[in-house]
Amino acid sequence: MSKLKVGVIGAGSISELHMGSYKNNPNVEMYAICDLNEQRAKGLADKYGFAKVYTNIDEMLADPELEAVSICTWNNTHASLAVKALDSGKHVLVEKPLSTTVEEALQVQEAVRRSGKLVQVGYVRRYGSNTQMLKQFIDNGDLGEIYYAKASCLRRLGNPGGWFADKSRSGGGPLIDLGVHMIDICWYLMGRPKVKSVSGNTYNRLGNRSNVKNLNFYKAADYDASKNTVEDLANAIVRFENGASLMVDVSFTLHAKQNEVSVKLYGDKGGCEIEPELAIITEKYDTILNVTPQVNSLQLNVTEAFQNEINHFVESCLNGTTPISPVEDGVEMMKMLCGIYESAETGKEVYF
Ligand SMILES: NC(=O)c1ccc[n+]([C@@H]2O[C@H](COP(=O)([O-])OP(=O)(O)OC[C@H]3O[C@@H](n4cnc5c(N)ncnc54)[C@H](O)[C@@H]3O)[C@@H](O)[C@H]2O)c1
Repeated sequence: MSKLKVGVIGAGSISELHMGSYKNNPNVEMYAICDLNEQRAKGLADKYGFAKVYTNIDEMLADPELEAVSICTWNNTHASLAVKALDSGKHVLVEKPLSTTVEEALQVQEAVRRSGKLVQVGYVRRYGSNTQMLKQFIDNGDLGEIYYAKASCLRRLGNPGGWFADKSRSGGGPLIDLGVHMIDICWYLMGRPKVKSVSGNTYNRLGNRSNVKNLNFYKAADYDASKNTVEDLANAIVRFENGASLMVDVSFTLHAKQNEVSVKLYGDKGGCEIEPELAIITEKYDTILNVTPQVNSLQLNVTEAFQNEINHFVESCLNGTTPISPVEDGVEMMKMLCGIYESAETGKEVYF
């Protein structure tokens, strides 16, 4: 099998998880890297062994040898870069979210159709080994029909600032940054039912809490305490056509006692939790059983999930198969996220 010539666009924090995973994949040739910041691109080109370094995306995409790219840039650039890459004949792994609007997401979908190339959306939690294990139980009916899911990702002090806090580059705050993961993992395990309506609330009450002393938190490279245009809390209820529902809440800042991540799904034969750690709940002979699967780690192993995501992308590119997180799932997610923002703004439920 010939090696896939891969390029990475955006050489920031998350890109290293892509690069490290590509490097570990024997079917990949580390071909090109591009960042607006030349020093950053050169530094990672040296570290991971990329042959070519660019600061201009058009120049990189003009290279006919390049076959596939990871897009690891700010959210507002994902869709336009994906369309350009597809139209240049490259396969695309795009970081979440696919775009910042539904319209842009549909443009990417159209470019996939037009180019015949594939898009894989970086819903990394889908690629966790616990997710795939749990999905087997769900697909085989062990939990029955899943009719309710509930997910939270609450940070009390965790607005990274920089582009994350700049709505023009991020498209929003915790909903589009964290909510996208929380909603996706539930929706995927629920079997991706069609969305019927969403109702949501967003709050800008605490700002970025840059006043807080004696407690450190992750800050983007260009953190500026005075700049913040995103919500600090969002919550929503999503209704699906099959009658199932999903409740989610996410925050960058909140007067919470501690940070919290939880993802729980409930079916008519059993339930499960995947965060903070894996559990399966069931009933047998009129007795409730809390089952603890014996796996390497009950928690999400982020590095392993990225490796699985990258391996899946490489395999999909080389074999021409559709990834488990295709462009359609990026579009459906943008409908949910943008619908929640719209509902919060209008104070009304949004129907699809
Ligand atoms: N899957 C996950 O769990 C996860 C985690 C963190 C971030 N992300 C996503 O990854 C993306 C990047 O986040 P980050 O934290 O690495 O940000 P970052 O700011 O650290 O890196 C982004 C890089 O992109 C570069 N860039 C921006 N526009 C560009 C363009 N048009 N051409 C070339 N380079 C460009 C910037 O110069 C910067 O170096 C975001 O979309 C974010 O949502 C995903």
